Amino acid sequence: MDEERRFELIRATPDDHLAEFAHDVREGLTASPKHLPCRYFYDREGSLLFEAICALPEYYLTRAERAILEAHAGEILARGFGERVSDPITLVELGSGSATKTRLLIAALLRRQGALLYVPVDISREMLEESARGLVRDYPGLRVRAIAGDYADGLEHLTSLRGRKLILWLGSNIGNLERAEAIAFLRRVRERMSEADAMLIGIDLRKDRAVVERAYNDARGVTARFNANLLARINRELGGHFDLAAFRHHALYNEAEGRIEMYLVSVRAQRVRIERLDLEVSFAAGERIHTENSYKYSPEEITAVARAAGLRLLGHWRDPDALFSVNLFGRAP
Ligand code: AVJ
Repeated sequence: MDEERRFELIRATPDDHLAEFAHDVREGLTASPKHLPCRYFYDREGSLLFEAICALPEYYLTRAERAILEAHAGEILARGFGERVSDPITLVELGSGSATKTRLLIAALLRRQGALLYVPVDISREMLEESARGLVRDYPGLRVRAIAGDYADGLEHLTSLRGRKLILWLGSNIGNLERAEAIAFLRRVRERMSEADAMLIGIDLRKDRAVVERAYNDARGVTARFNANLLARINRELGGHFDLAAFRHHALYNEAEGRIEMYLVSVRAQRVRIERLDLEVSFAAGERIHTENSYKYSPEEITAVARAAGLRLLGHWRDPDALFSVNLFGRAP
């Protein structure tokens, strides 16, 4: 069938994203301590850098999650929806990115039901469009309704989908949310789930500090460039004058909180002008901009989150080295 007719792009994000970016940058860089929202990592450049991170030897998350899906995709579907194929499942994905690992589930669903509607949601429109086109090309039974937008846009769209749904939230994307925020968000997903729906969440596990810190401080400096891309993006889009060499990447594991904290550290005292904000930002030597948290979970924390969100843990799978977990949830009664 015609590939064009099996692909549809919905732009949920208004094109005045620049105003929002400007607002958030002003707020974050005039606050104390300084911070920038991690969702701005993912312009075209940042999305490519993130893809490069996923291929790094130190970044175990992607490989471990893929290993789990390779070994258990069929079993996961059977656990969530039973062995018998009755009415078809629609696959929704929050933060789909390149959707490379998703292919394992798409293939398993197509084996099961022959045809499939896949609804990926991602803030990076280019990445979304590119991955969606690749998917309809490679899977003749697949229709893709891609939504360029954030999680809120994805939630809104969930309500309009009929039939049974499998909702994916892979790659430890949950790790960017505070623990309480994660629970609140999952509650909102739950409200939009029927008893027949399921949600599959990839969650990074708490582990040895050295292993985690290596994953966010790779030898080739790709994560450092990914982090610095926030400043490069301010330069490109807001007329910033950041000297990227005057900031260094810093990532450390806060063991008590169970999270990686990522910063850009000003290597000297400096003032940076941002034209479109008509703003000059001062940095002391050693002053940090917080750019990301990546929360890790213990198995107990995963069950606790599920309970608090009104979800029932239907299955929990780990890779052979127990680095990462894939968790299947249904609506608790
Ligand atoms: C896409 C949020 C899951 O936290 O591991 C990778 C982003 N940051 N290296 C993560 C990221 C630095 C990634 N998530």
